[in-house]
Amino acid sequence: MVAERCWIQLGVLLAVASGTACQNEAAAARAEAAPQAVAADSCGSRGAPDCPLQLWMKATLQAHQRRHDYERLGAALEELAKKAPPGYASWAESSAQGAAAASRKDDAGVSQSCKSCHEQHRERYRKELRGQALF
Ligand code: HEC
Repeated sequence: MVAERCWIQLGVLLAVASGTACQNEAAAARAEAAPQAVAADSCGSRGAPDCPLQLWMKATLQAHQRRHDYERLGAALEELAKKAPPGYASWAESSAQGAAAASRKDDAGVSQSCKSCHEQHRERYRKELRGQALF
């Protein structure tokens, strides 16, 4: 009888312990999924990892454009339009123009939108917001 109660208690303890472990795992997974800000001077230079937006650009826009995957490219450019940092005039417009070009499978039009945003905003973004994650 006593032994049986102990087993029940042990079972409860194990359930609680594994429940806590599961919660920790879930929290870690959430933290991974959330955008991670990094110190701006700890990324983007030679030997250092890419900065968050730089990495996203390479893995998303550049990768989709190279594969001519206009559907994903258009969707990604629409997302980018929504993430326009405050005060970056025409960020949303150039992304939206790129998305429209992607829907026409107009590669030159897409490239034009990449170029126009880069010319207008890349340098400033790197100075002001580089460590921040937009996605
Ligand atoms: C609305 C603005 C905007 C648009 C549109 C845009 N980009 Fe970017 N892109 C940026 C900014 C800002 C950076 C700088 C990020 C950094 O260095 O941290 C960047 C950086 C990059 C980089 C990294 C380059 C490097 O020097 O490491 C690549 C590659 C890139 N973009 C590809 C593209 C492609 C391909 C397109 C079009 C299909 C595109 N981008 C459209 C804003 C934009």
